[in-house]
Amino acid sequence: MTTPAQQTEKALIVQIEPWIDKSELRELERVIDSTFVVEHELTREFECMTEKLTGCNHAIAVCNGTMALFVGLKALGIGPGDEVIVPNFTFIASANAVILAGATPVLCEVREDSFCLDVAKAEQSVTPRTKSVMPVHLYGQSADMDEVMAFAKRHGLSVIEDAAEAIGVRFAGKHVGTFGDVGILSYYGNKTVTCGEGGMVLTNNEPEKLRSRPEGHFCSRIDWVQFLVHGFAGCCGDRPNEEDARHRSQEAGDPRSIRRGVARSAGFPAGLHRFTL
Ligand SMILES: Cc1ncc(COP(=O)(O)O)c(C=O)c1O
Repeated sequence: MTTPAQQTEKALIVQIEPWIDKSELRELERVIDSTFVVEHELTREFECMTEKLTGCNHAIAVCNGTMALFVGLKALGIGPGDEVIVPNFTFIASANAVILAGATPVLCEVREDSFCLDVAKAEQSVTPRTKSVMPVHLYGQSADMDEVMAFAKRHGLSVIEDAAEAIGVRFAGKHVGTFGDVGILSYYGNKTVTCGEGGMVLTNNEPEKLRSRPEGHFCSRIDWVQFLVHGFAGCCGDRPNEEDARHRSQEAGDPRSIRRGVARSAGFPAGLHRFTL
């Protein structure tokens, strides 16, 4: 006879099935051996890997993607009285971060072909209070960054890109999150690359304001046990190992592998899309 707990287990539909193998255990051992369970050299190493992957000048690790958005908004000087244009179809953290920064999110329609910000509609959302626009690269689909950057320039707005769901995604050959003034990534458990929890702020501008993390420091720092550097070896192509190879070959015939797939974007020929739940 099955217990109620076993019955529940049978009915469970797993949304997230991280691919964790011995390479993560080895990374965890490095953390434990180093005795640094807070930010230290390994954090910088992870930031450098992100800089290399995305091609941005500065990557700064924080505790999650929401805090990365908050830190980015504060660094851009966004606060009370300001409006930020945010797509009306996204994860709630995009708008929450604007509210946390004391500003007002102004929701804007998305395009039917990409589910990303519709710049033609955004034109109608601009007011004298609009300071910034936040394109979201949703489900691994890039927003049209040519259009977004031209729109921001026309209205003198800063650009903060929410690339929480878009690590490895490119638009016109350039990694998303690196077009605007600030971009962010999330390493939450359902992301293509996960640390369980974690986030990264990306910028090509002067990083000092981001590093000092105004107002957010005590809740924005990352602890090292979060950084199992899960999946990063495969993503950067830096550290191939036997487990990775075995897993990939098993995956080839597995219909679920679509979840880790890469495809040409249907929306924009310029975009490289990466499936993300
Ligand atoms: C589009 C989007 N923005 C922001 C976030 C926030 O990231 P985090 O969960 O790491 O705070 C997420 C994901 O969780 C997301 O999907």
